[in-house]
Amino acid sequence: FFFLPAEFVKSATSIDMIPENTAIPEVAFIGRSNIGKSSLINGLVNRNGLVKTSSKPGHTRMMNFFKIGERLSLVDMPGYGWKSRDEWGGMILEYLQTRKNLKRIYILVDPSHGLKESDSQIMKLLDGSGLSYQVVLTKVDRLSPTKYTAAKAEVEAALVEDAICCFPMVLGVSSKTKDGLDELRAAIIKAGQL
Ligand code: GTP
Ligand code: MG
Repeated sequence: FFFLPAEFVKSATSIDMIPENTAIPEVAFIGRSNIGKSSLINGLVNRNGLVKTSSKPGHTRMMNFFKIGERLSLVDMPGYGWKSRDEWGGMILEYLQTRKNLKRIYILVDPSHGLKESDSQIMKLLDGSGLSYQVVLTKVDRLSPTKYTAAKAEVEAALVEDAICCFPMVLGVSSKTKDGLDELRAAIIKAGQL
């Protein structure tokens, strides 16, 4: 059903602008600036240009809500590391902690850089709130298969340490080559019980 038409719903710069908490399952994409969040949503819904992307970090400044039919809601977020931690934290954390239909948070990580301090901080906050998240490695087209396997193992090993609410399967995707998108779609369908 990811091939149903996807549409833009709303941008929000404050918590009161967020669209009504509906019965549609929702998933949110977070991660450092330039990690490929917006590109990944385009890839998932198979519609380049639905979400604006940029090679300059800090492109997405608002929380942007999209939906696929009346079945699934997808949320693109500003990257952390762009907005200050407090700014990012305030509205987005409140959203993550209070959104009832939020089924899973996808944390995007660049496998060539591994988990950063900012990723670990966010995971701790999510663990503290009992929020389910899953790590997705992006831009896998940039690494050779050998390097990718090693990078993935490194991330997985770091996660085992203390990531309590982390779904125990790290996925790898490329929005460019579309590698891994079907696996991620399947994971979202499962998380949303769609
Ligand atoms: P912010 O909105 O600034 O937080 O960034 P973002 O995480 O939304 O990243 P965005 O999707 O805008 O992509 C950032 C850059 O990475 C763009 O130049 C994309 O073309 C590039 N990019 C995204 N996904 C991939 C991928 O799978 N492979 C490669 N090679 N480049 C990618
Ligand atoms: Mg973006």
